[in-house]
Amino acid sequence: MNKHIPEDVIEEIRTRCDIVDLINSYVPLKKAGASWQTCCPFHQEKSPSFKVNPERQIYHCFGCGKGGNVFSFVMEMESVDFPEAARILARKLGVIIPETEQKSSFSSSSSGSIVSRDRLYLIHEKISDFFHRSLFENPSSAVSEYFKTRDIPKDVASQFGIGAAPDSWDAGMRWALSQGFSTAELLDAGLIVERQNSEGYYDRFRNRLMFPICNEQGHVVAFSGRTVEKDFEGGKYVNSPETAIFKKSSILYALHLAKQPIQKKGFAILCEGQLDVIAMHRAGHENTVAPQGTAFTIEQASKIKRFANTLYIAFDSDSAGKKAALRSIDIVIPLGFDVKIVSFPSGKDPDELLRLQGPEAIENAVNSAEGFFDFIFREASSNNDVSTAEGKGRAVEEILSYLTKIQSTVTRSSYITQLAGLLKISESAVFKEMKRLSSNASRYSDRMSFAPTRENAAFSVNVEADNAVGKAEELLLALSLCHGTVGKYLENELPHEMISQTSAGRALEKVIQFTINGEWEFAEKAILDEMNSNPDPAITAILSRHHEYDKEFQEKAMRDCVKAIKINYLKKHIEKIKSTLSAASTPDDKKALLAEFQQCSKDLMNISKA
Ligand code: CTP
Ligand code: MN
Repeated sequence: MNKHIPEDVIEEIRTRCDIVDLINSYVPLKKAGASWQTCCPFHQEKSPSFKVNPERQIYHCFGCGKGGNVFSFVMEMESVDFPEAARILARKLGVIIPETEQKSSFSSSSSGSIVSRDRLYLIHEKISDFFHRSLFENPSSAVSEYFKTRDIPKDVASQFGIGAAPDSWDAGMRWALSQGFSTAELLDAGLIVERQNSEGYYDRFRNRLMFPICNEQGHVVAFSGRTVEKDFEGGKYVNSPETAIFKKSSILYALHLAKQPIQKKGFAILCEGQLDVIAMHRAGHENTVAPQGTAFTIEQASKIKRFANTLYIAFDSDSAGKKAALRSIDIVIPLGFDVKIVSFPSGKDPDELLRLQGPEAIENAVNSAEGFFDFIFREASSNNDVSTAEGKGRAVEEILSYLTKIQSTVTRSSYITQLAGLLKISESAVFKEMKRLSSNASRYSDRMSFAPTRENAAFSVNVEADNAVGKAEELLLALSLCHGTVGKYLENELPHEMISQTSAGRALEKVIQFTINGEWEFAEKAILDEMNSNPDPAITAILSRHHEYDKEFQEKAMRDCVKAIKINYLKKHIEKIKSTLSAASTPDDKKALLAEFQQCSKDLMNISKA
């Protein structure tokens, strides 16, 4: 059997597999702040130094240094190679791997891509028009017939660019080729897929109701296509793979339409999918967005935070929806959001509610949104028998895992007072419990994170240390992935030749490069993608740390690190000049070297003083 697995299948496994669920199925994980931890399955230890980061989908053991992604975890756990690990994961996830010989093709989307972003934008814009026209030009097609059953008026369909992918293997591709786009461009856009059994390509989206996904500026960067067949065996939705212009974890559906309304109304509403967003907009809540084909992420939350401080979470009230709501609460609380939960009656989603009961029903649901504390309290008291002492203990622990993340001490303590009252326990017991839980969490993160601790304080003065440059580059990498401003600063302040050729150094250069290109938000993905089958523990170690720096620390650390790198570089450079000076043959050479020596010495003195 040929072992090659197509790139888009790997991609599908990667997006469908949640690293926390995966690792949890081997070793039980415990929540610790924003990440999870356990005793390392790869070496013997008594206290947990194995950390799993759900946001970045990586793990790292700070004890033995092993780290990686879902693939490397299975490789290590099951002692198998990459293709076999992918097969194991595919079986778990129900992803089908075509068992055929793989031709090596000239291009697979993303890696090694030479297609410019401008072309990718253009192709998405054009094909989006093509899909949109198809929806109305072929009123008897299966997609158009299905579309009618969704009761979406034409002007709304136009506003959201809803379209139809024809019921054909290659109609989209043929049309795009006729418009002058190339196969390579279509591949990189994720619009076509390479055939496995024979030559050629076919359309990714066929016979589907198409929802263009726009970036914040309103440019189409991807598609989500809903099946129009009843009891369809494949996925209900097919989504574009990640491409050079589409990063799932940072995009919010309809944000380009919603950002002004969010600002105006002072809050955003978060739904589960495209059709729900459309329904909410139609019901007058144009401040509604949704994540796109993934769980809600910190990146998406931060985008919303730029426009409002209050978030209404409006997920299905079934158990999956509740779980997703709790996960989202967990993400937005530390960012300082006020959170409310919108519950729809009897498990209906906004789209059904609008169709069956009209906009008033949605209005009622939004108006009776409940505060997040009431919601988590209700959840915790339905999961635990709070009439017993043990049940109270567990409920308090559950609720505190959210409350400890609230930034404002005043808000936090007023919730604690409420909690104590509701459970009829003493306030001081709840406070003590909170202290215990948060010291458990921070003992760990103190040691592991770059938060302003002793290590960093020592670092800023100890430029002399052997590993000063390595440490500085690692910290800069962490900082630059955290804030786009860091890369900008480094672009101006840190000459390219001073960055070392270690994996951290190269990753740092990558972030700076992406920042310069205005693509900062893609840098982390580029670094994670590069790891694919062969993750670098030096990088996972950095990416696994908590990245919550305050501005003051960031600015000081940035300056200190650059200073340390420059001093070390100049010192080395001066040594080099000294050694070549004696061997310099002509007086002119000597003169030039001396001048350089003087310049470097002067620079060094200035930097050391600064
Ligand atoms: N989704 C996805 N892939 C799937 C299923 C769902 O990406 N296989 C995403 C889509 O973005 C979808 C959202 O999850 O919009 C919500 O899914 P679901 O609730 O199943 O769909 P609805 O939006 O309710 O669609 P419908 O009303 O047609 O059932
Ligand atoms: Mn629905």
